[in-house]
Amino acid sequence: MPPPIRRIGLLTGGGDCPGLNPVIRAVVRKSLSLDLKVVGIRNGWKGLIEKDTFPMDIHSVTGILHRGGTILGTSRTNPYKDPKQLKALQSNVQALGLEALIAIGGEDTLGVALRLHEEGLKVIGVPKTIDNDLANTDYTFGFDTAVNIAMESIDRLHTTAESHNRIMVVEVMGRHAGWIAVYAGIAGGADCILIPELPIQVDEVCAAIQRRHARGRNFSIVVVAEGAEFAAGQTTIQDKRLDEFGHVRLGGIGDTLGKLIEEKTGFETRVTVLGHVQRGGTPTAFDRVLGTRFGVKAVELVLKGEFGKMVSLQGNAIVSVPIESAVKKLKTVDTELYEIAKIFFG
Ligand code: F6P
Repeated sequence: MPPPIRRIGLLTGGGDCPGLNPVIRAVVRKSLSLDLKVVGIRNGWKGLIEKDTFPMDIHSVTGILHRGGTILGTSRTNPYKDPKQLKALQSNVQALGLEALIAIGGEDTLGVALRLHEEGLKVIGVPKTIDNDLANTDYTFGFDTAVNIAMESIDRLHTTAESHNRIMVVEVMGRHAGWIAVYAGIAGGADCILIPELPIQVDEVCAAIQRRHARGRNFSIVVVAEGAEFAAGQTTIQDKRLDEFGHVRLGGIGDTLGKLIEEKTGFETRVTVLGHVQRGGTPTAFDRVLGTRFGVKAVELVLKGEFGKMVSLQGNAIVSVPIESAVKKLKTVDTELYEIAKIFFG
């Protein structure tokens, strides 16, 4: 039997999301209860490359449960972009005496975690993304909060749309998958929902709006995910520069769509881009509980030596699955769910 692990590193990488602090708090509190030391790593993989760390104790995590964002900070740093950075990261793991690492992140952060694990580092993953597009977990924390923010925005847009007899286009986040659009759209009573998984058919969108108008409804709400496209490979981008994981900055599809709808239907149209509002602020109860359960389970996996694994929600159980199974493919919107949403179009 190898000696028990006594010292672990903890980091958050990629885009922040509500629920990260509940995970951090749970990892630290569970570890302290087992006399396990936690080293906080600032700003994702960047902190491990630059040895920017601090010891975490109960005071580090007091009062953070309800706070959005991450007290550890985050970045989109990819250590595999530069062999020197990778070397620095590896030697810092040794120098800091980190016997294992808990990495909280989405497909990019977990992709790095997987590679490091394959090269011998003891890593546990915790899945995070408001997009909810990581495979092999029913939900990721952050998603529920984002959906509730988007739903509330749609509710608010209803009253102004109705007062002015306008079409409101709401652009929500969702790079590769339209989970936020579909959930918020169903919950908010959208008249049309457009997602990255299916090409946008402008004529069908306009026909749905016209059907509503023909039966006396003088306003409509169209929800569009930022990654939705008119044809494959034609995403609307704000900035074509790539981040370290090769992603462009999306945004603007709502605007293009709004103009087309106005042109084709003749109905006055306004566009709202929700953007990072969806990622900020306090997590919902669901995300706090899920984050807490994920954090506790991650420490249990360290103790059991289940490295290369990720915590996952399956039904109502928190289980462990290979990190590989979560990052090798995306979890896109369920066709059955989209069919339900479609019943209410137009
Ligand atoms: O992956 C989560 C996400 O919020 C996407 O929905 C969005 O495209 C992206 O992050 C935005 O990233 P940034 O914070 O770098 O603008």
